[in-house]
Amino acid sequence: MTTAVDFPKDFLFGASSSAYQIEGAVDEGGKSKNIWDVFIKKQKYLDVFSVRSLKDIPKEYINRVKFIGYSKGSLVFKIVDKIVESITSVDDASIACDSYHKTDVDIALLKELGVQVYRFSLSWSRILPTGYDHAPNEEAIQHYQDLIDKLLANNIQPIVTMYHFDLPQVLQEAGGWTNNFIIGIFASYARFLFKTFGDKVKLWTTINEPRMVSEGYGGFYGIAPFGPDLGATYSGIGDYLSIRNMLLAHATAYRIYEKDFKPTQNGGVSICPDTTWAFPKNENNENDVKASELALQHYVGIFIEPLVTGEFPKIVLESIIDTSERKNFSTWRLVPFTDEEKKVLIGAYDFMAFNYYRALRVTMLTEEDIKKEKDFKKIDQRIDIGDYTEPSIPIDDYNGFYNILKWLSEKCKKDTKFIICENGLKDSDDQLISAEEKTKKKIDYHRGILVELDKAIKDGVKVFGYCVWSFMDSFEWIMGYKDKFGIYEVDFKNPDRPRSKKGCFDFFNKLFQDKTLPIDSS
Ligand code: BGC
Repeated sequence: MTTAVDFPKDFLFGASSSAYQIEGAVDEGGKSKNIWDVFIKKQKYLDVFSVRSLKDIPKEYINRVKFIGYSKGSLVFKIVDKIVESITSVDDASIACDSYHKTDVDIALLKELGVQVYRFSLSWSRILPTGYDHAPNEEAIQHYQDLIDKLLANNIQPIVTMYHFDLPQVLQEAGGWTNNFIIGIFASYARFLFKTFGDKVKLWTTINEPRMVSEGYGGFYGIAPFGPDLGATYSGIGDYLSIRNMLLAHATAYRIYEKDFKPTQNGGVSICPDTTWAFPKNENNENDVKASELALQHYVGIFIEPLVTGEFPKIVLESIIDTSERKNFSTWRLVPFTDEEKKVLIGAYDFMAFNYYRALRVTMLTEEDIKKEKDFKKIDQRIDIGDYTEPSIPIDDYNGFYNILKWLSEKCKKDTKFIICENGLKDSDDQLISAEEKTKKKIDYHRGILVELDKAIKDGVKVFGYCVWSFMDSFEWIMGYKDKFGIYEVDFKNPDRPRSKKGCFDFFNKLFQDKTLPIDSS
């Protein structure tokens, strides 16, 4: 039997991208270097590969690889052996999808796809090459004006992210997000953007996935040159400094909009945290239940709660203080906000944007693990995410999505409206399954998520939009071009970077246009 899920007629469906992942033209048009340009060169990182579990590492690679972290359910390794380096390919973003030169092509594809919104980001180092607002780059402004004008001319509303992992290198050299000078500098960048594009852009997000950004300043996942890749030495230190500064940078930008632009421009501003839902590994085990609460608060609550109450979640602060006592810190590592700062933070969003990919099953670190552990943040969080490399259980991902929507709507200001700015599944890299099966997996995932979205809307959660990650295959950070999330495929071997529809195109096209999801419930 086939039934259908109907979304509201004014619901916004769209696709997402980010500047560094698609634009290319890294040394063109007056753009200065950002942390990714520098990271790629510095690491001389020639290849990374991911496997689901240790036993899947190809024999010839063993002893030639360094573990660098987790990414969406895979273990990621960097190949460090010289011989292997010479035979592997360089993934960098100097051309990426060449979108800097393909505005018209991309807009035609978005139109063909039938989206109502396009979520993309602006490159800070392209618009303000010195990082500051004293010397804007006209060519960059022209480029983005053109993109925005053409989107609007095609009835596609822009959702614009100000910062998506690509900090101008000049700012990084002064400490980047760990130095509180960034609050004022980000705010002046935001003011510049409101002034320049705010007559046409009505939906703004300030910082994409601040938690991932913070990982770059000392995360135990270690994957993330979303900052300067300071690694575990600063874990539980640099990451908290950056979280605090990002929240204040966001809120300061929000206040500028509220006071000087909103009355005439009538748009809205949000931050855009990544979210997950952590289920206790064993629902009847008290410790596992506690771990799931810790995970939720350390990953998501840490960004939401300060914008509602001005405080970090109690359970987060308590766990950090406990580690500090054990490890003889006499200073705060995550410094609570002052009364002045609280005033800026409380209520600092017009709507709430967020990203969601998967759910986790968690348990607690044992006392023994904690004693052995050197990584401060890992001790703070106490969470054992088990074999994260196992693909999550689809039903967990779907239920987790419903749970996070309900949780957010309870935590956020009354009547907060939500938009999902990224949700997606990378194409399976299993060589043994057919293209049709891969397409089916992807569609099943989105269907599972969308059914829960509909349920949450019916249960009173106010959601006004949903964007698929990603519009097209793109530079997937340390995974280079190996992870493919796109609705459109890009041929990265062809210098012209031609795009083509993937098997899932029709599913999304129909969904976006009809705002109806047929469900096969037989
Ligand atoms: C990021 C994207 C990234 C995607 C898929 C998100 O965490 O915002 O930039 O490409 O996940 O890995």
